[in-house]
Amino acid sequence: MDLEQIYARIWASLARAAAEKNQPFKTMQAATIGLDGAPNVRTVVLRSVSEPRGEIIFHTDLRSPKIVELSREPRIALVGVDPVHNLQIRVTGRAEVVRSGPERLEAWQSSPDHTLTVYRTTLAPGTPIQHPDEAFDANPASAGEEATGFDHFCVVKVRVDSLDWLEHSKNDHHERARFYREGERWSQGWIAP
Ligand SMILES: Cc1cc2nc3c(=O)[nH]c(=O)nc-3n(C[C@H](O)[C@H](O)[C@H](O)COP(=O)(O)O)c2cc1C
Repeated sequence: MDLEQIYARIWASLARAAAEKNQPFKTMQAATIGLDGAPNVRTVVLRSVSEPRGEIIFHTDLRSPKIVELSREPRIALVGVDPVHNLQIRVTGRAEVVRSGPERLEAWQSSPDHTLTVYRTTLAPGTPIQHPDEAFDANPASAGEEATGFDHFCVVKVRVDSLDWLEHSKNDHHERARFYREGERWSQGWIAP
């Protein structure tokens, strides 16, 4: 593959991951800089991808620690792996937390209901509890009450600054390429694996 083909394959892989079930890169690990300066990393689900806008999107809880971290330092890094094809995609960018407006509403309305139940709990993510049942009881739905969870829901848009592709081949002919955004243009090159 040449560099243009790899660039296209990265975006196609991410778009497929966002659109379909059980795809590699459906979940990626997203790293932020913690308030104490130490790295923090967690799994997120890719929800939407746009190559023309150079953007990838995940959803999260406004109360979660990563939101405080991103509000202080919007730089973010994500990594995902396709273990069948020995591929790694790394992404860096800047995160924008969308807390209101039509984009957030549209994301909420187009999400399957089972993905939204996590937003209904009255416990902020990371709250210490005595027993896992406490988290279940904190879901108003379990008490038969109405609560959509929408107040806790937000969209995180990552404007991508760089992409890093690594393919480990079985015959040791590994290939690694990096793509950088320069304004609206992308520059590209091979790098040592
Ligand atoms: C398979 C899987 C998918 C997940 N997807 C998301 C997600 O899309 N958004 C999210 O905020 N947390 C997701 N989580 C939970 C996070 O990994 C993390 O535990 C939670 O968001 C709290 O992170 P924080 O304390 O760093 O803010 C997922 C966890 C797993 C195991």
